[in-house]
Amino acid sequence: MKIAIGCDQGGFEMKTELIEHLDAKKISLVDVGSYSEGSVDYPVYAKAVCDKITSGECDLGILVCGTGIGMSMAANKVKGIRAAAVSDCYTAQATRSHNDANVLCLGGRTIGTELAKMIVDIFIDTPFSGEERHARRISMFS
Ligand code: RB5
Repeated sequence: MKIAIGCDQGGFEMKTELIEHLDAKKISLVDVGSYSEGSVDYPVYAKAVCDKITSGECDLGILVCGTGIGMSMAANKVKGIRAAAVSDCYTAQATRSHNDANVLCLGGRTIGTELAKMIVDIFIDTPFSGEERHARRISMFS
């Protein structure tokens, strides 16, 4: 399991804490930036994480901005990406199990870091159910 992670200024602090959390779990990471709280354009980092997934280098992605919304909008423009903005544990589980989401988007200004860590753990640990009805619905996205 290899994960690509990225953020903008709204998510830098949370991304830093998530990297520590994932490092402690010995999960392999690629940090595409940004690397400070300076103002940047979040679509650049959304694309960088998505490229790591569509190229096959990484299995899943995590994007953190102020709300998780801008990142999810940008990521979902990339073919093959199913990005979900998540702020609760049930949705973290369901979006892997039902939607086979491959990018998790979090709001650094809208949820706490401990909740974000729980969401990340659930997202990483939950497989796609593989059920025919869910696969069929996903195939209808494009
Ligand atoms: C940046 O200020 C903010 O707009 C961004 O982090 C994000 O919340 C956009 O959806």
